[in-house]
Amino acid sequence: MSDDNRILAEDVTYAYEEADKNAVNHLSLEIREGEFVAVLGHNGSGKSTFAKLLNALYLPSSGRVLVYGMDTADDEQLWNIRQKAGMIFQNPDNQIVATVVREDVAFGLENLGVEHDEMVRRIDEALESVHMTKYAEKEPHMLSGGQKQRIAIAGVLAMEPSCLIADEATAMLDPKGRKKVLDTVRRLNKEKGITVVWITHYMEEVTEADRVVVVSDGETAMIGTPREVFSKVEKMRELHLDVPRMTALAQDLREDGLPLRDDILTVEEMAEEVARLLCP
Ligand SMILES: Nc1ncnc2c1ncn2[C@@H]1O[C@H](COP(=O)(O)OP(=O)(O)OP(=O)(O)O)[C@@H](O)[C@H]1O
Ligand SMILES: [Mg+2]
Repeated sequence: MSDDNRILAEDVTYAYEEADKNAVNHLSLEIREGEFVAVLGHNGSGKSTFAKLLNALYLPSSGRVLVYGMDTADDEQLWNIRQKAGMIFQNPDNQIVATVVREDVAFGLENLGVEHDEMVRRIDEALESVHMTKYAEKEPHMLSGGQKQRIAIAGVLAMEPSCLIADEATAMLDPKGRKKVLDTVRRLNKEKGITVVWITHYMEEVTEADRVVVVSDGETAMIGTPREVFSKVEKMRELHLDVPRMTALAQDLREDGLPLRDDILTVEEMAEEVARLLCP
């Protein structure tokens, strides 16, 4: 296996059959090991299509995708690619395949031919990583949406992936479940160094990402740190995207003549900035 530990999209285009435009259009992106990359974009901008290209669920119509040096077009690497770059989806119910949590987490491992003892170790560790150990023998359908998503994440973790690709993994969850799932993924990124590609509509989920990629019409429209991207409020609005609430508030206040800095993302930063203006 190559020692390349990036995911590379090189001039990737993908067209659905009979579609009049490319869902992903000449998109290039380098995702570095250990990065937390957030992907934003309006409905239909190509985010999910891009995610599926990253772990060989789809193959590029042109261009290529390299996952840790493996070309997704290479059939023989399919399982290696899926093991390296695991994916979680929006609907937790569609991802549960077994009637007991532990078996659900084991599911992917059975395809990998992992030995029994090793399997037990991996399942225990994966459940521990998502703080779901005490639910190991429970029935998944008894769990909340957020808990089910954490089980889905455990299923991916058991494969010992290098990268986790999450396509709106919190979209169907309540605020509490959403926070738990995001916290879990952030922790895996920070503590285990797992690369994360985090697709979301929630701006507040993006403020701590290393980089934000904004996709529009299947192309990268903006790319940068959250601060760089969100400080371009007008451009974000042109792309039919919101900015975090505090960034929007700061913009409104600036328009009213208050000289706030243009890169405020969080409540804490807003409070500091207002305090600075009041007591210079
Ligand atoms: N199975 C399909 N067949 C044909 N066209 C599709 C299919 N899936 C998506 N598309 C089209 O491809 C484009 C990109 O869709 P995609 O689902 O990748 O966008 P998205 O950014 O994930 O959108 P959303 O925010 O709604 O999830 C859209 O124009 C969409 O209508
Ligand atoms: Mg989508």
